[in-house]
Amino acid sequence: PIVPVILSGGSGTRLWPMSRPERPKQMLALTAEETMLQLTATRAVGEHFAAPIVVANAAHADMIDTQLGAVEASAAAIILEPAGRNTAPAIALAAIAAGGGAKALLVMPSDHVIGDVAAFHAAIHAALPLVADGWLVTFGIAPDGPETGYGYIQVGEEIAPGVNRVARFVEKPPLDKAKAMLASGDHAWNGGIFLFRADAYLDALAAFAPDMLAACRKAMDGARYDGRRVFPDADAFAASPSDSIDYAVMEKADRVAVVPVSMGWSDLGSWDALYTLGADADGNAHKGDVVAIDTVNCLVRSDGVRIAMLGVEDLIVVASGNDVLILPRGRSQEVKRLLAAMQDG
Ligand code: GDD
Ligand code: MG
Repeated sequence: PIVPVILSGGSGTRLWPMSRPERPKQMLALTAEETMLQLTATRAVGEHFAAPIVVANAAHADMIDTQLGAVEASAAAIILEPAGRNTAPAIALAAIAAGGGAKALLVMPSDHVIGDVAAFHAAIHAALPLVADGWLVTFGIAPDGPETGYGYIQVGEEIAPGVNRVARFVEKPPLDKAKAMLASGDHAWNGGIFLFRADAYLDALAAFAPDMLAACRKAMDGARYDGRRVFPDADAFAASPSDSIDYAVMEKADRVAVVPVSMGWSDLGSWDALYTLGADADGNAHKGDVVAIDTVNCLVRSDGVRIAMLGVEDLIVVASGNDVLILPRGRSQEVKRLLAAMQDG
């Protein structure tokens, strides 16, 4: 069976004030009753999937246990990083923990929305023959704007039913390049989900990032085990270069394939993205204790205080703890500027 590898190390700063270092985006219930982590874990269950390996920040161990327990998605292992070194080393730890070899790993970010899980599963099945053959497979999303926060895949010739060769992989291009790739019509966004044999990934690291592979092997050789919790050796892991799978492997590797798939994917990177997913007939997306009169096209959320609004439109209002965020729709990518300003002041 396929081994799901769930990456849960990110901090999701653009969803402040609900997303915070101690409870980041993936641990929040943003689109459903379940948290993003719970939705991710329950997306890869059934006869084709083994129990997942979760790779996460050590500070979140208890919260992860509780959340997975609540949806009966019991992890085979929870690998706890003393400090994040980005996704390439995190996946290496999981590949080593899985025992390397021909086992297929399905690497999934813990903070994405996939509306059509059946389409996702069909895409996984389309990829399996190439995966068995040693290809690194990613999933391609039809782009709807010149996003600079994504990887771009130039879709090459079809090499198996529903699977194409990656002609070129460009991680996080500048805006002019993103616009050119969008206009070309033959590029997809990288969905950030990967499927490959554990040994194919480790071989790619051996070729393109040998220091990283050595550090991760050493970290796992010296790992401490506590039930299903795995604590890689902190000094060995700290010595690993920090890099994403996209830069360290996908841009460089040769046998890379993409499955173009339409599955209601969103990486939910901002409050505007969440608004787009959830608006009702009045154009509102509210959650929590919200009283709104003559209010249209607003996203209003509270996890505590009551929010009352009248006669406003096109606003994002989010209250959490002692913080309230207010901004016009369309500018939620700029939340990072506010965080920086608050840090300086
Ligand atoms: N365990 C662990 N350790 N997980 C990590 C770490 C780490 O050090 N860093 C990031 N993650 C997790 C995040 O929580 C997220 O679930 C996933 O790995 C991807 O990391 P991001 O930091 O969110 O990557 P990105 O969004 O900038 O870019 C990636 O995703 C895009 C789609 O959302 C790339 O793959 C892009 O090419 C892609 O388009
Ligand atoms: Mg992301």
